[in-house]
Amino acid sequence: MDGNGRWANTRGLPRTDGHREGEATLMDVIAGALEIGVSELSAYAFSTENWKRSPAEVRYILGFSRQILREQRDDLNAWGVRVRWVGREGRLWKSVLSELRAAEELTKDNRKLTFNLCINYGGKAEIADAMARIAADVADGLLKPSSVNDQLIQRYLYAPDMADVDLFIRTGGEQRTSNFLMWESAYAEMYFSDLLWPDFDRLALWRACSEFAGRDRRYGGAVDRVATTEPRVWAPEEYDDPDA
Ligand code: FPP
Repeated sequence: MDGNGRWANTRGLPRTDGHREGEATLMDVIAGALEIGVSELSAYAFSTENWKRSPAEVRYILGFSRQILREQRDDLNAWGVRVRWVGREGRLWKSVLSELRAAEELTKDNRKLTFNLCINYGGKAEIADAMARIAADVADGLLKPSSVNDQLIQRYLYAPDMADVDLFIRTGGEQRTSNFLMWESAYAEMYFSDLLWPDFDRLALWRACSEFAGRDRRYGGAVDRVATTEPRVWAPEEYDDPDA
């Protein structure tokens, strides 16, 4: 949700007014996602790196997040949205955590759309936390090092049942992912929008989805376009070194 601060500053307003405007965008985007049948949507509201901002801005964002959760949870619940917090406890204010838990509890049976609210979240922090828990389980004899693979690592992430990211949208004109859902977006399609977050809306989301629908996703595979036969499945031994 990048660009709130610039949106406000270009209008001669304090950065916090941009965050306020960003709330309306977020609700419009959630409504737009529901309209087109998106089953999971994640928003980056506060990163583990956002603690570098001024105390006044951090206090504003955390206090505002708490307020949004309280004010919007009934509407989100009525819309069939399941709210799920994704992030690290650490320094996160207890009062924000308890609003997150209340929203999760209220909406836990909703199935239309899961809204992953990433607060005090960092992709590297998530992977590091998973590694620490895996190492502890190995040390306790609960896990064998040889059983560590990508499916197992997934089970130690903050939200083990979160689907891999299909479409990764970054607003605000920056061409980077800023430590968001690093593991989950390994094969995500990237979409960079120059719109500042408060100028983004459901139409902009649909435009991004429409472009996504035309992308060719190969997940590391390849199709020989010259071939006229149907794609086939090869036997494992066909991948062996022929010179061995
Ligand atoms: C990025 O814009 C935005 C943020 C760091 C905070 C956004 C948070 C909210 C709108 C609150 C959401 C909370 C809930 C509970 C849904 P920026 O400040 O980096 O903008 P800039 O790049 O223009 O400086």
